[in-house]
Amino acid sequence: MTSYIILLGPPASGKGTQAGNLRDHLNLAHVASGDLFRYNLKNETALGLKAKAYMDRGELVPDDITIAMVLDRLSREDCAEGALLDGFPRTLPQAEALDVALANKGVQINRVLNIHVPEDALIERVTGRRLCRTCGEPYHIKFKPPQKEGICDLDGGELYQRDDDTEATMRNRLKVYWDQTSPLIEYYRAKGVLVDIDGAQSIDHVTEDLKAAVADL
Ligand code: AP5
Ligand code: MG
Repeated sequence: MTSYIILLGPPASGKGTQAGNLRDHLNLAHVASGDLFRYNLKNETALGLKAKAYMDRGELVPDDITIAMVLDRLSREDCAEGALLDGFPRTLPQAEALDVALANKGVQINRVLNIHVPEDALIERVTGRRLCRTCGEPYHIKFKPPQKEGICDLDGGELYQRDDDTEATMRNRLKVYWDQTSPLIEYYRAKGVLVDIDGAQSIDHVTEDLKAAVADL
């Protein structure tokens, strides 16, 4: 059976961190729209340069660009058995486009994991976040420090801060989340696929709750 699982939650709620912990357990490809944009930006593609202005302001990249990029990614071989979606969908038109694309393949979203974290904790998480320039692994200076300061544990890559991880941009990202993304909670709850997860626990506890929430798939 295929499994399409969405990690839904505000910026810095732990979607990327938890996808890293879950993807091997579930044997699913990790499809993260933000990572796809950052990959394009690093390689200076037209798509990356177009997305940059929106990302730097903490706004959403327009739906048509985002939907085309993610559906293309989902059509690749490693998504044949499903995918762990992180950061997509983020608007109702994106969710509807995903439903149509999956229905055309005779499949559907199996579960949406809705990660809750209080807003003050999100600000602390985002300002202390560091990422590996090579593999994208997320760290936190207080909550998940690397063994060697500034160096990725996995591949020795240099750690950096995202341009949009300032407190001011984060405030806008949170506003955008509440305005445009949070309606998806009720959209998926009405379909009976949503599970609420307490994301304010330690990283390992959240992983355990997420594993339990998909254990039947
Ligand atoms: P994107 O890259 O998706 O960013 P985001 O949604 O804002 O989410 P983050 O990546 O900031 O957070 P996360 O939930 O992955 O948290 P993480 O695990 O890193 O999007 C960036 C931009 O791209 C958008 O603003 C937009 O412009 C564009 N974009 C992307 N998708 C789009 C779409 N679908 N449509 C339109 N535009 C789109 O954790 C955060 C920190 O907290 C880390 O330091 C981590 O170590 C730490 N941490 C994690 N869990 C815990 C825990 N339990 N306790 C303590 N610390 C923790
Ligand atoms: Mg992320």
